[in-house]
Amino acid sequence: MADVGVVSPTNIALVKYWGKHPRYPGLFIPTKSSISLNIASFTTRTRLRTKKGTNEVRFSLNGRKVGEEEEEFAYVRDFFGRLSTRYRFAKRYSYLIESRNNFPTASGFASSASGFSALAVAFARAMEEQGETPRLGDRDVSVIARLGSGSATRSVPSKGGLVIWHRGYDGARNDDDASAASFAESLYRPSHFAELALICVNAGGGQKKVKSRAGMDESVKTAKGYWSWVENEEKELLPSMLRTVRRKDWAAMFGLVREASDNFHRVCRETKPPIAYLNDTSRKIVRLVGPPEQAAYTFDAGPNAVVIALKDRAKGLRSALAGLVGKRNVVQSAVGAGPVEA
Ligand code: PMV
Repeated sequence: MADVGVVSPTNIALVKYWGKHPRYPGLFIPTKSSISLNIASFTTRTRLRTKKGTNEVRFSLNGRKVGEEEEEFAYVRDFFGRLSTRYRFAKRYSYLIESRNNFPTASGFASSASGFSALAVAFARAMEEQGETPRLGDRDVSVIARLGSGSATRSVPSKGGLVIWHRGYDGARNDDDASAASFAESLYRPSHFAELALICVNAGGGQKKVKSRAGMDESVKTAKGYWSWVENEEKELLPSMLRTVRRKDWAAMFGLVREASDNFHRVCRETKPPIAYLNDTSRKIVRLVGPPEQAAYTFDAGPNAVVIALKDRAKGLRSALAGLVGKRNVVQSAVGAGPVEA
């Protein structure tokens, strides 16, 4: 029996992940690399209890038992299924998972990133405690999280801050090579971003209408400019953004973050049938944020925004945004570190 508790932050993608490579079915290898910042204030706390058994999974979210017929349950069960092809011993255990988000699951902020990151770290620590494996490093654990949810891969590295998830398949000789190379690592610690604030804005979308997993599969198959978007971001936009981060040239970084968000939503619109994640409030947020030198906006698979700005501008922006969506729908956070045992 092992009993482990982990708290993991969620993250906001600056260069987005959107699509698994069709050459590697079932391995969850992305078509492109992505980068993100951990959001210190939005976390999932997961307690995992494991014991030798019949591979039963029980799962509760925010104090409510998730039934076997529910989609969330299928995500977790399938995760353990994929996991046991890599770690055979996983099949010999039963799992009791209790997860709590400190933000509303339906707020549209990605709880799958913090949720599967916390679960992957807890699984690794539990299996180490049970003597099944030597200590697994961040790199291996990020690969485990990848099998649950792509964005979770980037929440795993313990230093956190700015994290890159490498697509990994360039030059890979086989599936195992590509899978091992598609991992996440921290490039800049949170202290590098001490001047910046992340302002998280709930634009009132509730639960996503098109789940990211289904949406991205459609985009890979049908979006007109999909592969040129992939290669342009891999070769141009992502390396340029990393250069602006290294120099702390925040004005230039803000421009590129906006461009990456706009590019992603264009790919969604070019998907057949088109996917529209933004709503009127999202568009008002874009206008309110003002010129690119001053702040960035970015939207994942939903209408909610994360606005990135210099701290000394954050107060003004926060009150303007509160005027639009109400004070309790605006949360300011710092860039955060990675998961901790707790
Ligand atoms: O982790 P998933 O499968 O829910 O996909 C996340 C996709 C985006 O949030 C839109 C982009 C990203 O890189 O996080």
